[in-house]
Amino acid sequence: MDRKGKTYLVTGGASGLGEATARMLAAQGANVAILDRDEERGPAVCKELGPRSAFFKMDATKEESIKAAVQGAAAKFGGVHGVINCAGVGSATTTINKKGGVHDSGIFDFVVQVNLYGTFNASKYAAAEMAKNEPDENGLRGVIINTASVAAIDGQKGQAAYSASKGAVTGMTLPMARDLGTYGIRVLTILPGIMETPLMAAASDKVKTGLALSVVAPKRLGKPEEFAHMCTAIIDNGYLNGECIRLDGAIRMGYQSKI
Ligand SMILES: NC(=O)c1ccc[n+]([C@@H]2O[C@H](COP(=O)([O-])OP(=O)(O)OC[C@H]3O[C@@H](n4cnc5c(N)ncnc54)[C@H](O)[C@@H]3O)[C@@H](O)[C@H]2O)c1
Repeated sequence: MDRKGKTYLVTGGASGLGEATARMLAAQGANVAILDRDEERGPAVCKELGPRSAFFKMDATKEESIKAAVQGAAAKFGGVHGVINCAGVGSATTTINKKGGVHDSGIFDFVVQVNLYGTFNASKYAAAEMAKNEPDENGLRGVIINTASVAAIDGQKGQAAYSASKGAVTGMTLPMARDLGTYGIRVLTILPGIMETPLMAAASDKVKTGLALSVVAPKRLGKPEEFAHMCTAIIDNGYLNGECIRLDGAIRMGYQSKI
């Protein structure tokens, strides 16, 4: 696939799923802008990708920072054809705890700010840029790919904030597609299962093996390249729109009480 002349913004592109997507798009000839808070990894990845890539520092919790990064990338490459929203954080805090405490509101706010507001704000500023493109023969001007999680549906204990943020990302997919259909901009959301990224690096081999066993097939964690491949499939298939797609080896997270 030759993506020469097309520009894709990847939030969270300094690591994990976003990095794999930035690498795949760049290898296929696209211009790639990495929008991330990580000022070490982001530029380092861009250095490897070469002159058709650029790093823009962005804090997903701050709208002005997102606006500046998106507009800066659009100015550098002369337009935007897609945004892949991968910037995200997890959470592990229960609603109340055994010490009589309640879920910290700051943690809840932070997770929602990054995962939901960050995704929506990057999408809206990128959409404003994509709306300026000449439409293709099908009237299409660009695509937004958001990253939710299977935790949007099968959230685990301690994931109230994370699941709320990812559930909201899945929920806004269709209304955004309807808002942006007028401009020929498609909106899709990917719900990854358990993927082998730095987010999972802290888990022990025993934990990873246990998780892999709960995947129907193949019996392993997902690879970042498989997420990147899903993004390129979405970019290439113009009839996909307004949908949330699980990428999870058919995992369905259960619940087991401790005795
Ligand atoms: N890895 C998994 O198993 C998995 C599963 C389901 C969903 N996801 C989702 O996929 C996305 C990517 O996850 P990953 O596994 O690649 O994680 P990762 O930690 O490897 O990468 C996340 C990237 O987001 C950036 N980021 C975080 N907070 C930011 C902020 N406030 N502003 C700007 N950048 C910020 C980080 O610097 C990092 O580069 C996340 O939204 C995550 O919730 C991951």
